Amino acid sequence: MDPADFYSGIVVDAYSKLKSETFEAGPYLEFVRAQGEPGLEIGCGDGVPLLELCAAGLDVDGVDSSLDMVERCRRNATERGVRTQVFHQRMEDLSLDRRYASIYLAGPTFNLLADDETALRALVAIRAQLTDDGAALIPLWVPDPTPADELGVSRTTDDGPGVELRYTPLSESYDREQRTRITTSRYERITPDGTEVADREWIIHWHTPASFRRLCAEAGLHVAAMVDEDTNEAATEAATDFFVTVRRTP
Ligand SMILES: C[S@@+](CC[C@H](N)C(=O)[O-])C[C@H]1O[C@@H](n2cnc3c(N)ncnc32)[C@H](O)[C@@H]1O
Repeated sequence: MDPADFYSGIVVDAYSKLKSETFEAGPYLEFVRAQGEPGLEIGCGDGVPLLELCAAGLDVDGVDSSLDMVERCRRNATERGVRTQVFHQRMEDLSLDRRYASIYLAGPTFNLLADDETALRALVAIRAQLTDDGAALIPLWVPDPTPADELGVSRTTDDGPGVELRYTPLSESYDREQRTRITTSRYERITPDGTEVADREWIIHWHTPASFRRLCAEAGLHVAAMVDEDTNEAATEAATDFFVTVRRTP
């Protein structure tokens, strides 16, 4: 399965109910207000935090590679009564009619691009979608290996009467040279009538501050800021969670 199709079927339900982190709208609201509209949220999923920015009156579109997520996001927008356009595309093949003053990913979705070649294609596509003076905000993450005692241990949640959703990381490979962590994972929906199973390889391909700068330069982008999320200071090579702001190289 292509990594861009990871979030499909029961994984969509399990992800939204079992996710360990919700990305707050605050930093992205600030970013779009500072950089200008229109904005574009890449990897918008079912609308968090996209719909909150739209509800605050900002003109922000969404794009996601999962049709299941896109449909859910459009439904959520209608239910909340907010106006937005949600496109079904991959960020590495992005081709939208509008150009955007602000493009952002909410959380380290960029790390789902499985190798440097795909990441470079995505940066080139983001560059093409930015207005001449626009900016893109890309959060990045350098993961540790999953602790061995967490492998085989399930997280579960109720999904209606007698129904349980379950996520279990089964095994993992961690390759520092390729900067890639692959966690073989199982999602299950357990009902009185039987169990539906979806097996996935959760691929995180990480970038260091230096490797990401090189990739940006190759894509025709320059790094305007690289901020360590933990210290709020300029990211050093040791940073594991950092926000990168890029602009088109003139
Ligand atoms: C970790 S989820 C985050 C979703 C949402 N921001 C949230 O917090 O609920 C990542 C999202 O990125 C999408 N995605 C993964 N690879 C993508 C790609 N190559 N292009 C566009 N979207 C992608 C997935 O379908 C998924 O909806």
